[in-house]
Amino acid sequence: MLLFPIALMALQDTPPADIDWDKEFGVEERVRDPETGELPVDPYEQSNDNAGARQFSGSQMADHFGGQDGIRRIAVRTVELSRADSRIAEIFVAHDMVRLERTLFEQFCFILNAGCDYTGRDMAAAHAGMGVTRRDLNALVENLQQAMREEDVPFAAQNRFLAKLAPMSKDVVER
Ligand code: HEM
Repeated sequence: MLLFPIALMALQDTPPADIDWDKEFGVEERVRDPETGELPVDPYEQSNDNAGARQFSGSQMADHFGGQDGIRRIAVRTVELSRADSRIAEIFVAHDMVRLERTLFEQFCFILNAGCDYTGRDMAAAHAGMGVTRRDLNALVENLQQAMREEDVPFAAQNRFLAKLAPMSKDVVER
């Protein structure tokens, strides 16, 4: 006699096997572009103004940084060092590093006048809600300095580049 109601209860408690939990919880699945390997981002207007600084004139700075190849190595190495840096590694975890390596390279290449356009977002939009502190920024700058040293960028050229980036801190640092 008891068996029937128990069996009925068990049946009612079993959720359907084909339930889409991502949909139920409103989790959006983001798929990497098969060609670029990047995740999609919300639409924005592309402009070199988003780079946050004006370009150097002439080719001297680009030469000091080893042209596009040297600049790419510096951008990629800065990201690599920062992801391995226990002070700030956490901040990078949930973000698209394929895109960051590309856009950081483009930004550096554009500012150094090495023949690129910057296609990323502006600095305020790119860092919104990340809670970056002044300390985090200092850690990232140290990693960039190390990457530039490893590429033998002359010290004066390193400092001229950092001076271009410094005003961006107001758009990056949130607390
Ligand atoms: C002046 C200093 C900085 C510059 C010039 C800079 C530059 C950039 C650029 C060009 C992007 C890519 C924007 C895009 O993809 O549209 C970006 C994104 C990002 N930056 Fe920075 N950044 C700075 C400081 C920092 C600091 C201090 C941190 C953390 C310690 C940080 C963490 C990130 C992360 C996690 C992203 C990925 C955002 C995403 O795609 O969701 N950045 N940054």
